[in-house]
Amino acid sequence: MDSPFKSDVLKGKVALLTGGGSGIGFELSAQFGKHGASVAIMGRRKQILDDAVSVLRSQGIQAIGLVGDVRKQEDAARVIESTIKHFGRLDILVNAAAGNFLVSPENLSPNGFKTVLDIDSVGTFTMCHEALKYLKEGGPGKGPSGGGLILNISATLHYTASWYQIHVSAAKAAVDSITRSLALEWGTDYDIRVNGIAPGPIGDTTGIRKLAPEEMKGDPRESMPLFKLGDKWDVAMAALYLASDAGKYVNGTTLIVDGGLWLSHPRFIPKEMVKDLSRVVEKKSRKAPTGVPTSKL
Ligand code: HXC
Repeated sequence: MDSPFKSDVLKGKVALLTGGGSGIGFELSAQFGKHGASVAIMGRRKQILDDAVSVLRSQGIQAIGLVGDVRKQEDAARVIESTIKHFGRLDILVNAAAGNFLVSPENLSPNGFKTVLDIDSVGTFTMCHEALKYLKEGGPGKGPSGGGLILNISATLHYTASWYQIHVSAAKAAVDSITRSLALEWGTDYDIRVNGIAPGPIGDTTGIRKLAPEEMKGDPRESMPLFKLGDKWDVAMAALYLASDAGKYVNGTTLIVDGGLWLSHPRFIPKEMVKDLSRVVEKKSRKAPTGVPTSKL
């Protein structure tokens, strides 16, 4: 699908994306590149990065791949230094690296819980911490949106509660909190905007393969009427909005890109029934003196 944004909205910008070699992170890398940014992608697996960089370069995008694990502070620092060495600046940091698996709380070891928090929450903070000195520099081409931008990829799992996702829900709740705290503190002190995106189920991603495995039976729309798969493109367009000057007054928000799914629950009365039923209830309540339970009438 074509982008509704002009192809130069990120011209001259340098973006570093953790988890940028696959899934949503890769789509963001490609769309940022197609809109003028140079991109550095960070991930643990060299082969995946190499393949991703070849695809990006074949599309005319300036791209490099940097192997590293966001759980290691020394990797974070090295990857950021390499980005600066290669491209000379850093304008946008996207924290898209994440870990996930379905598990019930009683089958999740404390180390399993910690592993996901280490990747999603501590990893996000570590990358922000190490990138600050470059993000706050700004410099030529800074544009009306001020200093740098941080974009944290979150989820909606923790808005209510989600089955078999206690670890990820806790991790993403922390990510959203980091987004707001840094938006306040670094927005004030360094003119850095910090925002998030909370995608719903996105097709053709590791997330959807792990959370809704093909082996799973049943139609999710029975329990979630608003369920439909999004595209990685949908998340990338939201990211472009936040990363470009279109989003220059947006700071500290996490934009939900889920088609409304997190609001979803089954109808409790069929639509055909609600009009008549509602009138009956109104009539009954007019007859009943207040305070007298209707069961006594
Ligand atoms: C129970 C599990 C488990 C499972 C791992 N563990 N997988 N427990 N069920 N399926 C436990 C292990 O037993 C171990 O605890 C601890 O977690 C660490 O596991 P390791 O395999 O040693 O960790 P590591 O090799 O570092 O791998 C990290 C990982 C892995 C998170 C477990 O899945 C991974 O690398 N994922 C990265 C890619 C990924 O998941 N992407 C999806 C993102 S989707 P013990 O106690 O045994 O030592 C996403 C969507 C969000 O984020 C929501 C959208 C709606």
